[in-house]
Amino acid sequence: MSEFWSIYVSVLTIGTLVGLTWLLFSTRKGEKKSETHETMGHSFDGIEEYDNPLPRWWFLLFIGTLLFGVGYLILYPGLGNWKGLLPGYDEGWTGAREWEKEMDKANATFAPIFAKYAAMPVEQVAQDPAALKMGGRLFASNCSVCHGSDAKGAFGFPNLTDSSWRWGGDAGTIKATIMAGRIGMMPAWGEVLGENGVKNVSAYVRHDLAGLALPQGTSFNLQAGKQAYDTTCVACHGANGKGNPLLGAPDLTAPSSFIYGTSLAQLQQTIRHGRQGQMPAQNELLGNDKVQLLAAYVYSLSHVKSEDETAE
Ligand code: HEC
Ligand code: HEC
Repeated sequence: MSEFWSIYVSVLTIGTLVGLTWLLFSTRKGEKKSETHETMGHSFDGIEEYDNPLPRWWFLLFIGTLLFGVGYLILYPGLGNWKGLLPGYDEGWTGAREWEKEMDKANATFAPIFAKYAAMPVEQVAQDPAALKMGGRLFASNCSVCHGSDAKGAFGFPNLTDSSWRWGGDAGTIKATIMAGRIGMMPAWGEVLGENGVKNVSAYVRHDLAGLALPQGTSFNLQAGKQAYDTTCVACHGANGKGNPLLGAPDLTAPSSFIYGTSLAQLQQTIRHGRQGQMPAQNELLGNDKVQLLAAYVYSLSHVKSEDETAE
C-alpha cells in the first residue's frame, strides 16, 4: 500500500473510532441518573419517547466493541501499513499469504511421507494401501474431471483401468505421461484422401482392423480402403493396425479403446479432420512426489487386484 493510502485508511479508521467515542459520551451528557417518566417532547404518530439513560449493558457493550477494535488494530495489521504487534505478519496480511502458510504447514507434515514413497519403485508403491488412498484422493481432485471418477474415461478421454494404452502402461511410462503430459497428433486426411477415400478407409478400419460389422445396405471399397491405409496410415498405426506407443497412435484393432467412437460417422470425422487429444503436464502443478502417488494409483487400476476382488 502506498504511503498516501496507508495514511488515508489510518485517518479514516482512527477518525471513526474517535467520532464514535465522542458520540457515545456526548449523548450521555445531561442524561438523567435513573429512569423517568419524562418524555423527550416529540411524538411520532402518537408514539412518544421516554428520556431514559442508555441501558447500562448496551453502553458497556459499545465500550467493549471500541476497546476490542483498538486492541485488534494494535495487535494485527489493519491500519494502513502498520504490521501489528503479533509476530508472523511482517509482510502484512493477505488471504493468499495465509493460504501459502497453510500449504507450507501441510507440506511440512506430508513431505516426509511423500519422500518415502518417492524413493520407492512405482510398482511397489502400488501395493501400499495407504499410498493408494492418497493417490486416489489426488486423482479425484486433479484427474477425474477428464478421466471420470472411476477412471474409466469418456468421449475423448482414455480409460485408465483397462490393459490398452495409447502411450504405454508400464509404471515408468505412466509416470512420464503424467509428469510431462502428452499430445496425440492425428493429422487430418480429408484433403489428401478425398471424400470417398475417407469413407473407404473408415470402413476398412471398422471392418478389417476393429473387426466390427458394417451397417447393412452400405457398400464400401474395402480394397481401396486398405490401399489408402497401407500408404497413409501405416507409418503411425503400424502394418497390422496395432498402433505405436512412441507416437501415441492407438491400436485400431481394439475397438473398446477408441476414445472418439467406432461408428462410421465418428471414424470419418476423426479421419477427415484429425484429432489432437491433450493430456496436460502435471510436473509443475503437482510436482514429482504427488505424481509418484498418482502413477502408482493409475498403475494399480489395471495391475493390482482391488481388495474386493481378492476377497472373493
Ligand atoms: C483436461 C483433461 C485431462 C486431465 C485433467 C487429465 N487428463 Fe490424462 N489424458 C487426457 C487426454 C485427452 C489423454 C489422451 C491423450 C491422447 O490423446 O493421447 C490423457 C491421457 C492420459 C494417460 C495415458 C493413457 C494411455 O492410454 O496411454 C494417463 C496415464 C493419464 N492421462 C493420467 C492422468 C492423470 C493421473 C491425471 C491427473 C493428474 C490426468 N490424466 C488428468 C486428458 C486429461
Ligand atoms: C502421424 C501419425 C498418424 C498417421 C499418419 C495417422 N494417424 Fe491416426 N492417430 C494418430 C494418433 C497420434 C492418434 C491419437 C489422437 C488422439 O489421441 O487425439 C490417432 C487416432 C486415430 C483414430 C482414433 C482412435 C480413437 O481412439 O478413437 C483413428 C480411427 C485413426 N487414427 C485412424 C487413422 C487412419 C485411418 C489413418 C490413415 C488415413 C491415420 N489414422 C493416420 C496418428 C496418426
